[in-house]
Amino acid sequence: APTPLIAPSILAADFARLAQEAERVAGADWLHVDVMDAHFVPNLTLGLPVVESLLKATDTPLDCHLMIDDPDRWAPGYAEAGAHNVTVHVEAAHDPVMVAKDLRAAGAKAGLSLKPGTPLDPYVEVLKHYDTLLVMSVEPGFGGQSFMPEVLDKVREARRLVDTGHLTLMIEIDGGIADSTIEAAAEAGVDCFVAGSAVYRAEDPALAVAALREKAAG
Ligand code: DX5
Ligand code: ZN
Repeated sequence: APTPLIAPSILAADFARLAQEAERVAGADWLHVDVMDAHFVPNLTLGLPVVESLLKATDTPLDCHLMIDDPDRWAPGYAEAGAHNVTVHVEAAHDPVMVAKDLRAAGAKAGLSLKPGTPLDPYVEVLKHYDTLLVMSVEPGFGGQSFMPEVLDKVREARRLVDTGHLTLMIEIDGGIADSTIEAAAEAGVDCFVAGSAVYRAEDPALAVAALREKAAG
């Protein structure tokens, strides 16, 4: 198996010191940026201006997770700004195939996210246009919640579709990933692991990233 990717979520970092917080996890593969609009989810974080500044402050590729209404309108701006991967929610997108095309045309990888209760089956054809599938393992909106192991069935289903050549994408998981949960997610077939609290609440975030990567590699 390829080396697992670790994407620390800056939702758990100090928003007044984002450049330094990015630097503290310089060994991470991606930096996960949670954009929330207080409509799609009951929380408000940051938007494009902050992402633009962060892009100048770090060399780590940005993985922008848009928990917002009408991503059809807003997502391409993040790709144009230079985000590596831009993920939208299937529950919010009006035309997810068009969104993927717009994101790729703007030079980014396209990601599609499913909330814990959203099934995979109806979106297999749509996912053929995507580079990343983000499986939520908590209800989106807040960091520090408990991992929902029942979403691993969905991960296994996605893994099977990838391994049999029906889909070509990276499987990412987000929510409650820590030392105690990452192995089960890796066994189910996850390629990329988002971790907020487990990284930024650690004494040494860089060490926490390395430890998570080692555990995920098995
Ligand atoms: C939740 C966000 C997550 C969050 C994860 O809506 O999408 O990225 O930061 O935080 P932890 O790892 O603490 O569950
Ligand atoms: Zn996220």
